[in-house]
Amino acid sequence: METVVSGIRSTGNLHLGNYFGMVRNAVKMQQESNCFFFIADYHSLTTHPNPADMHSNIRQILAEYLACGIDPEVATLFIQSDVPEVCELYLILNMNAYKGELERTASFKEKVRRQPDNINAGLLTYPVLMAADIIIHRAHKVPVGKDQEQHLEMTRRFARRFNTMYNVEYFPEPDAYNFGEQLIKIPGLDGTGKMGKSEGNGIFLTDPPAEIRKKVMRAVTDSGPTRRNQKPSPGTANLFALMEILSDPSSVDYFREKHASCEIRYGDMKKQLAEDIISFTTPVRERIESILADPGYLRRVVDSGAEKARESASRTIREVREIIGYRQF
Ligand code: TRP
Repeated sequence: METVVSGIRSTGNLHLGNYFGMVRNAVKMQQESNCFFFIADYHSLTTHPNPADMHSNIRQILAEYLACGIDPEVATLFIQSDVPEVCELYLILNMNAYKGELERTASFKEKVRRQPDNINAGLLTYPVLMAADIIIHRAHKVPVGKDQEQHLEMTRRFARRFNTMYNVEYFPEPDAYNFGEQLIKIPGLDGTGKMGKSEGNGIFLTDPPAEIRKKVMRAVTDSGPTRRNQKPSPGTANLFALMEILSDPSSVDYFREKHASCEIRYGDMKKQLAEDIISFTTPVRERIESILADPGYLRRVVDSGAEKARESASRTIREVREIIGYRQF
C-alpha cells in the first residue's frame, strides 16, 4: 500500500474552498492509502506566533479535520512537534541543502518581499523541513496544490541526493498526488478569483447561519440579464458555481432558467444558496463544537497519532543513522 504524507497549515478556520479543494479528498484518500496527516506547527514558528495563539490554532484545526471526517483510527493524524525525530532528519538534510537553491525558492523570495524584517533561517530552510516531514515516513505520494509543487520537487532532489551520497536506495522520491477532476476550485463571493482566507472572501465552516446569510447576500452580482440566454457576469457565474456544488440540481436548473429568461431575482437565488450552504455547514460546525468541548477525546487522538507517527519516524532515523555511519560500538 502506498504511503501518503500531507502537512496541514496550523492556522485554523477552514473555508468552503479548503473543504472542497483538499479536505474532502483527504477523507477519501485515507481509505485507499497509508496516510499520515499532520499539523505543521514547527513550520508556523517562522512567523513568530505567540504561545496562546499557537495552542488554540492547533486545537481548532485538529477539531476541524476530525469534524470533516479524518478518522484517527484509519489515518495517522498527528501534530508535527509531537514527533521531534523530524528535527534530526531536518538537521541531516540541511548539510546537503545549498544556500543558492534555497534562496532561489519562490516561496522564500515571496516571504522576503512580504516580511523583510523577519527573514530568518527557518524561512530559508522551510523546504528542507518539509522534505524531512515527507521522507521520514518514506512517502510515495504527497497531495499538494500548485503552490507546493516546487517544494515537492526539492523534496525529491534532497531524497535523491541522500541516496546518491550514501550509495543507497533508501528514500523513495515522492510524487504529487493527482486529484485530477476531483479538485474543485471554489470561487469567492466578490466576483473575482477563488475563495481564500487572505482574500477575505471566505465562508468558514464555523460561521454561524446569520453570518453565512450576510456574506451571501453581500455577494457581487450585476443589474440583471437584459437579453435571453445572456452569459452570467463573473460574480453571478460564481453564485451558480457554488450552487452546482452545494445545492439540489433542481434549484440550479430553476435559477438557470430564470436567468436565461431574464426573470431572475438575485435576492431569491442568494437566499436559496445561503440556506443550502447552511444545511451543509451546520452538522460540521456542530461536530467541531462538540469535539472542542471534549479535551479528553482530543488528547487521546493526539497521543495515539504521536505514537504511530513516532514509530514510523524513529525507524527511519535509526536506519539513517546507520547509513550515515553513526554506529554502535
Ligand atoms: N508547506 C505546506 C503548505 O504551506 C505545508 C506542509 C509542511 C506540507 N510540510 C508538509 C505539505 C509536508 C505536505 C507535506 O501548505
